[in-house]
Amino acid sequence: MKRVLSGIKPTGTLTLGNYLGAIKQFVKLQRKMTDCEFYLFVADMHAITTRQVPSELRKRSLDIAAMYLACGLDKERTILFIQSEINEHVELGYILQSNVYMGELERMTQFKDKAQKQETSITASLFTYPALMAADIILYDADYVPVGDDQKQHLELTRTIASRFNNYYGDFFTVPEPIIPEVGARIMDLQNPEKKMSKSEENDKGYITMFDDAETIRRKIRSAVTDSEGVIRFDPQNQQGLANLLTIYASATDRDIEDIVNQYKDSSYKDFKEDLGEVIVNLLVPIQEKYNEIIKSQELQDLLDRGRDIASDYAFKKMRKCKKKIGLGRK
Ligand code: TYM
Repeated sequence: MKRVLSGIKPTGTLTLGNYLGAIKQFVKLQRKMTDCEFYLFVADMHAITTRQVPSELRKRSLDIAAMYLACGLDKERTILFIQSEINEHVELGYILQSNVYMGELERMTQFKDKAQKQETSITASLFTYPALMAADIILYDADYVPVGDDQKQHLELTRTIASRFNNYYGDFFTVPEPIIPEVGARIMDLQNPEKKMSKSEENDKGYITMFDDAETIRRKIRSAVTDSEGVIRFDPQNQQGLANLLTIYASATDRDIEDIVNQYKDSSYKDFKEDLGEVIVNLLVPIQEKYNEIIKSQELQDLLDRGRDIASDYAFKKMRKCKKKIGLGRK
């Protein structure tokens, strides 16, 4: 059976970008690929590459797990777990550090961006992060990994690392394929559409979180930066802000951008934004209601226990074989 796998790091609050770029795609794939298994995890080990407040980190990890379910994942068909509850991620991550080169890690744009922002106190784990991410994926022999555009480079490196391992030790890991959505793979900041919408941004007007209330959502969309052209068309070069709003609309409603442009071609930006605000409210409010039920439920804990047990069983067996292949241990 083919396996689809993805993860989200519990830093900051989940944004509409995480939803449209990753979670929504995951739910869609689950409905389409009925013959696949779905592994989904909270990447809490990745979160500690930058300083976290322990109680907040734990809360956000559970929030993400609950949010995944609230977004419509099929509970029966999802192996949902918390990364740090399975030791083998770190074990394989270390082994993969020995199969990736400094030069390759130095080229990762996410590392370069983050290192630039932080300047001092850059942790070693922030640098080796892609090796752990590769381990998350190939530990389970995932065939497909749905992610947003910003993870593409990490996925390419994962493929390189897996192939390198296989070439040296003999075929062992599945080399995964990324799945990147055509629309919504890169949702931009509402205030600065040259930057990706990110949960770690300081200006909270730039992003919509999955927990924003209806009035906040409407206000943020209303104040989103557009341009002075005043014409609704899809022109990402010259009308970046508007193009981003059209993308959000299309991705949220599963409609073609062209179709939306046609509908609004004679409207003002103000009217278009009012409607988009309603689209997002209608999308997020029902998800928030479900989240509120799930976060308190015993069912969430039970699903995480079950996910941990199933994932752990696979990871344990895979690592036993992996160590044997490498020549680690006595037999
Ligand atoms: P993270 O937590 O930064 O993001 C989670 C997912 O959301 C996508 N995403 C976006 N998509 C569209 N527009 C945006 N503005 C936007 N912002 C974020 C990301 O592409 C991602 O799919 N390293 C990963 C977590 C991870 C992982 C893995 C993912 C760890 N191990 C193994 C897949 C497989 C990360 O930091 O994603």
